[in-house]
Amino acid sequence: MVLKQDGVSSKRATEELVELARQARTHAHAPFSHFQVGAVVECSDGRVFTGCNVENSSYGLSLCAERVAIFKAISEGARDFTRIAVIADTHLHGPVRPCGACRQVISDLFGSDAEVIMADLQGQVETQMVKELLPAPFDRSFL
Ligand code: THU
Repeated sequence: MVLKQDGVSSKRATEELVELARQARTHAHAPFSHFQVGAVVECSDGRVFTGCNVENSSYGLSLCAERVAIFKAISEGARDFTRIAVIADTHLHGPVRPCGACRQVISDLFGSDAEVIMADLQGQVETQMVKELLPAPFDRSFL
C-alpha cells in the first residue's frame, strides 16, 4: 500500500515495482556471469527494499538479487511481505524466474498467496503466486 497525500491508501502498480527492480539492476555486481538482476520486495506497510545480484570471485559466495532485497528488508525490521518483483535481460526466453534457492527463501518469508512478479527488459511481465513457484517447500512445520 502507498499512502497518498490525501490520506487515501492504494496498491502500488505492478509497473512501479518493476521499475524499482529495473533501477536496482543497474547496481548489479556481476563481473563473472555478466547477468545483471534487480529485485524489489514490498511490505504490507508500503515500504520497499531493492536488491541486485552481488557476485564473488569465490563463485559460491555470490548472492541473488532477490535474497539481497529480502535480507536488506529483514535487517531493517520488515517482516510482512506482500510482493516481490525481479527483472533481468531474458527477453528471448520470457521473464526471468527466481532460482530454486530464492524460491525457498521467498516461500519461508512470504505468504503462499503472495505475488512474485517476473519481468524482462522488454516489458514482458508475468505474475505467479509463491505456492505456484514452489508447491512443496521445506517449511517450519518440519522442525
Ligand atoms: N541470479 C539472481 O540474481 N537471481 C536469480 O533468481 C537467478 C540468478 C544471479 C546470480 C548470478 O549472479 C547470476 O544471476 C547468474 O546466475
